[in-house]
Amino acid sequence: MKPRVAIFCSGRGSNMEALIKAAGSANYPAEIALVISNKVDAPALEFARGHGVRAQAVESKPFGRDREAHERAIDAVLAAENIQIICLAGYMRLLTPFLVEKWRDKMLNIHPSLLPAFPGLDTHARALAAGNRLHGCTVHLVTEIMDDGPILAQAAVPVLPGDTEAELAARVLAQEHLIYPAALAAFASGRPVWASASAALQNPLP
Ligand code: GAR
Repeated sequence: MKPRVAIFCSGRGSNMEALIKAAGSANYPAEIALVISNKVDAPALEFARGHGVRAQAVESKPFGRDREAHERAIDAVLAAENIQIICLAGYMRLLTPFLVEKWRDKMLNIHPSLLPAFPGLDTHARALAAGNRLHGCTVHLVTEIMDDGPILAQAAVPVLPGDTEAELAARVLAQEHLIYPAALAAFASGRPVWASASAALQNPLP
C-alpha cells in the first residue's frame, strides 16, 4: 500500500500541482489523498478536485487566535482520511508545537532558498541584495524552528547578472517542481533522497 499524503497550501498551489501530477504515474510510491487549505477560495482546491483528489478548506477564522484548536480540527480530517505523510507547499501559517510534534519525521516542507540561508519571507530579494551567485530551494523535514530541520533535497540555480526578483523566483520555482516530487518519492519509499545520485557517482558511465 502506498502511503497516503496530505498537501497543505494557502495560495497558488503550483508545488501541489507538481506533486499531484507526479503521483499520477502508476509507479510513483505515494498517493496524494488530500489537499488542505486554510482558505476557502484557494485556487489549489479546484485543481485538486479536478484531478480526483479530495480537497478541503479548514478555515482558521472560527478558531480566532487559538492556532492549536485550528490544527486539532485539521488533524481530525487527517485521521479520518488515514493520512501518513504531510507535505507543506506554500502553507503560510506558523505551526504550533501540537502539529509539529504529532507529525515529527512525517512532515515535509519546501522553501525557496538554499537553507540554512534565508529562512522566512522575501528570499529571492534577499539573495539578490546579498549579492549571492547561487540561490535555490530546499525540501526538509519540519521541526519546531521555522524553515529548519533535516534537509532531504536541494537544488541550486545561478543568479544571473541583471536578474530581477521575478526572474530569479521563476528559475527557483522550476526547480521546486522537480525536487519536491523527487524528495517525496524517495522519502515515501524509505530510501535516502540522493541514493541514486550517489550510486551513479560510484558507477560512472563508461
Ligand atoms: C513556494 O515558492 C514555496 O517554496 C514557498 O511558497 C511558494 C508557494 O508557491 N514556501 C515558503 O516560502 C515556505 N517558507 P506555490 O503555492 O505555487 O507552491
